[in-house]
Amino acid sequence: MSGDTPALSPATVVVHAGRPPHEPDQPLNAPITMASTYVGGGDLEYGRYANPTWTAFEEALGALEGGRALAFSSGLAACATVLDLVGQDALVVAPRHAYLGSIGQLGDLEARGRIKASLVDISDTDAVVAALDDAAILWIESPTNPALEVADVERLVAAGHEVGARVVVDNTFATPLLQKPLELGADIVLHSVTKFLAGHSDVVMGALVVRDDQLYDVLKGRRDLVGAIPGTFESWLALRGLRTLHLRVERAQSNAAELARRLEAHPAVAEVRYPGFGAIVAAVLPDAERADLLTRSTSLWVHATSLGSVESTFERRRRWKGEAATIPEGLVRMSVGIEDVDDLWSDLEQALDRVAG
Ligand SMILES: Cc1ncc(COP(=O)(O)O)c(C=O)c1O
Repeated sequence: MSGDTPALSPATVVVHAGRPPHEPDQPLNAPITMASTYVGGGDLEYGRYANPTWTAFEEALGALEGGRALAFSSGLAACATVLDLVGQDALVVAPRHAYLGSIGQLGDLEARGRIKASLVDISDTDAVVAALDDAAILWIESPTNPALEVADVERLVAAGHEVGARVVVDNTFATPLLQKPLELGADIVLHSVTKFLAGHSDVVMGALVVRDDQLYDVLKGRRDLVGAIPGTFESWLALRGLRTLHLRVERAQSNAAELARRLEAHPAVAEVRYPGFGAIVAAVLPDAERADLLTRSTSLWVHATSLGSVESTFERRRRWKGEAATIPEGLVRMSVGIEDVDDLWSDLEQALDRVAG
């Protein structure tokens, strides 16, 4: 399958893209190619430049997002590769509630005098447009982690391009099944593959997807040079996980919508944030103590960071030092899995009753 979005449904693309050709004796699934080097004179040459198992994953993700994908060792390695492109003193406009690691990289670059970072409420389109000025990069994350704010991606892309900015969309929370930023005009899509794409809490990996061939070459050149490459086994696992993305997102999303409704009605919960799509819900408890009690009182829900896996996990985000001070102390980010929704609710309800009591 090519990198362009085929006319097939994403449910079909996710299963079929990135497979070996349908020819006698070809395996149906891309094998794990363990190789640091290849017989010279071909396209691959060396293990830091290319690996057929990465390529299979990249083809599948590229087909889903409608562009050309590059796999990285982590989401933050992909993030650093993009930020590395900006010139000295360039302005980067980004969500104040973006993933704390992305904010951390911006803060680090700013502290070292490399860039200027302007952090904005990404759901306030007018405020973002007003902050754009001569931005080199408009960084969008939507929904944001963990505040779950939603950006008007299409309008922001247009406004970013008007000032000559490159527009990057971190599509980790939405996945290409719920949001396709390249179709909305974005230049670069970023994924923490670690999350929904791989989906089983066993891989750390990242990816970038672009449409522009020149930009692809620049980013690939950076990956070749810096060596922020994924492991072969990780790529294979990520592709294995990706094959069921459609089913997992469908089920997790329906569980999340139902749990958001039930959480709204529980007296222990002060506020529920759910953007109306996706599998992440934030339940705000009145304070850190009650939120911590909740995360200690369940048996199915696991208190763990990260998200997007088959099993339900949750955590109080302010337990991390780098989390924004504007995120409530009692906010518990919930990554809803694919279990039975009534089992998930029973476990949560008894814990919330304990918190309330
Ligand atoms: C939205 C988002 N972007 C990027 C990252 C970074 O990805 P990784 O942990 O794979 O480096 C994360 C990780 O939590 C994330 O949630």
